[in-house]
Amino acid sequence: MRILGADIGFGYTKATDGRQFQVFKSIVGEAHPIQFAETLLPAQASQPRHFVIGNEEVFVGELAEAQSRGRGFTLDHSQFLAKYARTLALAALSPFAEHGDPVRLVTGLPISFFRKYKDALTTLLQQRHELSVIHADGSRQDKQIYIEKVRVIPQPFGSLFNLMLDAQGKTLQQRFVTEKIGVIDVGFRTTDFTISDKTRYSERGSLSTDSGISLAYNAIANLLHEKSGTQVELYRLYEPVTRGVIKIKGHKYDLTGIVQQAFGQLATRIATEANRLWADDWDIDAIVLTGGGGAALAPYLQPLVQGEVLPMPADQDARLNNVMGYWKYGAHIWPM
Ligand SMILES: Nc1ncnc2c1ncn2[C@@H]1O[C@H](COP(=O)(O)OP(=O)(O)OP(=O)(O)O)[C@@H](O)[C@H]1O
Ligand SMILES: [Mg+2]
Repeated sequence: MRILGADIGFGYTKATDGRQFQVFKSIVGEAHPIQFAETLLPAQASQPRHFVIGNEEVFVGELAEAQSRGRGFTLDHSQFLAKYARTLALAALSPFAEHGDPVRLVTGLPISFFRKYKDALTTLLQQRHELSVIHADGSRQDKQIYIEKVRVIPQPFGSLFNLMLDAQGKTLQQRFVTEKIGVIDVGFRTTDFTISDKTRYSERGSLSTDSGISLAYNAIANLLHEKSGTQVELYRLYEPVTRGVIKIKGHKYDLTGIVQQAFGQLATRIATEANRLWADDWDIDAIVLTGGGGAALAPYLQPLVQGEVLPMPADQDARLNNVMGYWKYGAHIWPM
């Protein structure tokens, strides 16, 4: 029996077995034969991105982004679950699951979808899945991923468990067990707010909003469209935003000003939501800012949120906070 964690986000899909992890963009595309599959330079070893699942042959992640003609990417949640969640989960888990070996999986849903979709997501994933993995050299490996148990938790609790528990699932930091902690998880599409009051979930203090990083990316893409006439897909903006410059059809556009403005506006919106939602929870001991978007917005958001905001480890990819916590939670509830 093996414990795995999977965080299927609107922006990125993340999975871990506690030792290794992988991240790829949450994009599914139709597969087609690539005439010239080898890259010209020795590439870094990467996990498979080409699968046959049911009667569909798909590329996922960056391979779909670069090679698929029909590409699926959605910010609509019910569509996301119905069309892509299973494919993304299986692609993410496959390197960590042995053929036919039972796997126990912890995964999450955004706060506002938690009650409505928890059972549907469990049913979707908790079964024996038959798939074929197509490796980079073209070889095909049939594989059964047997997910014998699924536990679904509200997504931001992943980050909380990551801080609270160690790799054996034991309590590492007592304050997260005994105190009242607010969590702000800024993702690609959603921002989730939640309160853990001595590890108990507070309904009143929990909310999902649409204030994800994609709002800021949208503003940036619109401005670029005005300037260049090209509509840049949102999921292609991370690298240019980080570098502060984008090249479209040979022209370079400086992004630093517009990024500052868009991130500043989004941070103001999120801080307003937090301060309003938690107006009655003035006794919160500390606030955890998490998610990949949380890291990107931290310098803008920290001064605007009322309360002690805990700094995040700078040496870790903040996109992985939830999935690492899912896995530790699995170790906690299913001790070996
Ligand atoms: N190395 C990185 N590569 C790409 N994006 C990064 C990186 N580090 C931080 N980010 C930021 O993380 C954001 C995505 O965060 P995250 O993976 O937590 O979202 P998600 O979980 O997919 O979305 P949601 O929670 O809305 O479903 C990106 O939009 C980007 O701003
Ligand atoms: Mg997320």
